[in-house]
Amino acid sequence: MSDLDVLLREERSFPPPESFRRDALVGDDALHREGAADPDAFWARMARELTWIKPFTRTLDWTPPHAQWFADGTLNASVNCLDRHVEGPRRNKAALIFEGEPGDQRTLTYWDLYRKVNQFALVLDRLGVKKGDRVAIYLPMIPEAVIAMLACARVGAIHSVVFGGFSPESLRDRINDSQCKVLITADGSYRRGQVIPLKRNADKALAECPSIEHVVVVQRRAGAPGDAAFTEIKEGRDHWWHRLMREARNADGGFYRAPEEMSAEDLLFVLYTSGTTGKPKGIVHSTGGYLTAAAATTKYVFDLKEEDVYWCTADIGWVTGHSYIVYGPLANGATCVLYEGAPDWPEKDRFWAICERYGVTIFYTAPTAIRAFMKWGPEFPARYDLSRLRLLGSVGEPINPEAWMWYHEHIGHGRCPIVDTWWQTETGAIMITPLPGATATKPGSATVPFPGVSAALLDSAGQEIEVGGGLLALTRPWPSMLRTIWGDDQRFVDTYFSKWPGRPDLYFAGDGAKRDEDGYYWILGRVDDVLNVAGHRIGTMEVESALVDHPAVAEAAVVGKAHELKGQAIAAFVTLRAGHAPSGALRDELRDHVAEKIGPIARPDDILFSADLPKTRSGKIMRRLLRDIAEGRALGDTTTLADPGVVASLKDQYEAQE
Ligand code: WT7
Repeated sequence: MSDLDVLLREERSFPPPESFRRDALVGDDALHREGAADPDAFWARMARELTWIKPFTRTLDWTPPHAQWFADGTLNASVNCLDRHVEGPRRNKAALIFEGEPGDQRTLTYWDLYRKVNQFALVLDRLGVKKGDRVAIYLPMIPEAVIAMLACARVGAIHSVVFGGFSPESLRDRINDSQCKVLITADGSYRRGQVIPLKRNADKALAECPSIEHVVVVQRRAGAPGDAAFTEIKEGRDHWWHRLMREARNADGGFYRAPEEMSAEDLLFVLYTSGTTGKPKGIVHSTGGYLTAAAATTKYVFDLKEEDVYWCTADIGWVTGHSYIVYGPLANGATCVLYEGAPDWPEKDRFWAICERYGVTIFYTAPTAIRAFMKWGPEFPARYDLSRLRLLGSVGEPINPEAWMWYHEHIGHGRCPIVDTWWQTETGAIMITPLPGATATKPGSATVPFPGVSAALLDSAGQEIEVGGGLLALTRPWPSMLRTIWGDDQRFVDTYFSKWPGRPDLYFAGDGAKRDEDGYYWILGRVDDVLNVAGHRIGTMEVESALVDHPAVAEAAVVGKAHELKGQAIAAFVTLRAGHAPSGALRDELRDHVAEKIGPIARPDDILFSADLPKTRSGKIMRRLLRDIAEGRALGDTTTLADPGVVASLKDQYEAQE
């Protein structure tokens, strides 16, 4: 039975445990009813839980496909995450509990974080950063990443966080696309006992980034900052973080930096994500709407209480880190765990050791991680006292029911509800999810839209599907929706609001899904040329461009193939230029080449050399057939192929190679 069949036959249902429901923020359908009755009023109420400088009077201004939320209100995101907490009883509450991979620990209270963010905001002033400027952040999972983001928000600069695992070229392209003025990075980052030389990578990128005026370097590596052999500091351009921070003072000796008054629609950040072309899209998020939905979903999806210890294992380089490590939890005054390294370092029990050590109560991770835990075996979590855990979350890709059940049993001990949360970089916040005290869960289903969110399944003609399979759409604007794509509003319109002609009100998510008789959504995966490899979004075209960039490659076609741990793995079909012969060495070289161009997450699992690729008579590569080959299935319809012989021979070769 295929994974899909397994999903479609799933019939188990888990109502919220009574012990959980009793104390939950939402223990019945009241919030869903409120959202359904008047979504705008619901979101306005959520927005009023934030601290505004000037309260908004307008909720939604909608000229499809563009929408604005709370547009006449003003606020500052850092005030919402910090100032309002330090004025009250959360002043000395832990905001961040950090654990580095080597085992170093630091706890920052709200006061600590508030002070450091103010100081770093003064640093940004000194470096000439102004409201609306872009600042690139290329950092490990260390408190400075959070400080840098919030300091940008404080001075009104737009941050662009680039995942530390991305290559110099990927960093360069992202910096150049939005013309960042300052880059914040670190000398290195610990990963499986090694130090990834982030600054050295950054230096390679910066050779071709004329917009960058200053680079701030956090000293993460143990040892003297003067280790010039590892980290080169370019006089005038590069500055050590700790030195700038030491000098960051006002004339009166204080550290306070007044927050910039931002309009709700001013941009908070840009975050790049893969699409169907080779060029990543700069997804742009607003201040007021984004923060409203990030804060409201964090509170209600995770049933967040004052005494919780919340841990989201994502990296700050992805949207999950933005919304559910930084903005959502901190806006709610939560205590968050931040862990720098790998789950299997030094041993496969690291996550559970961390859960026990800090008394984690809410744990949010990805299916690919859960499948790895499953493979490693239940003996690793069993070594630890996980009795503080009360709620588990999953995000990033469909979770197979088997992994869901394992998570439920071996991590949640049958006691913790699981929230399977569907959303995207573009949606900014969770869109389809259980409310853990109110929604019965079904393994493999993200269940129902969050209150105030309207979803539907449509066929390609735009007909709504009540029960069955279709394309997932969001049918009303939501506060944290992307506002546009940086520098390319036409691409924004074309990608998200043009799927159904004449319906610019419908947001096309790019996912296929099924809806069952209870109205539950079962997300089946991308229907475009976007892959989901271990929860990371990678465009097939990006990998193809990286391959054809190699001098030996004439043409390349990339598809996703089902993978036990990663969800999808990358399979590439490559034709070589004259004078180049297939070999194992060349295969390794190509795999390394892609990793170097994009980042290790894009390294193809399989590369098949072939004399030709299957194309339609109009010259389009038939990826569907390549997927059949890569997954070892019987070939689908080949009648539209220009040369059906090509694919049969490819299939034979692929099988011979396995
Ligand atoms: C794509 C978005 C925003 C979270 C991190 C990924 C897939 C995400 C689920 C889920 C099934 C999911 C979709 C979506 N996805 N969550 N709970 N169940 N699929 O963000 O990189 O923007 O990727 O991830 O395919 O379109 P992203």
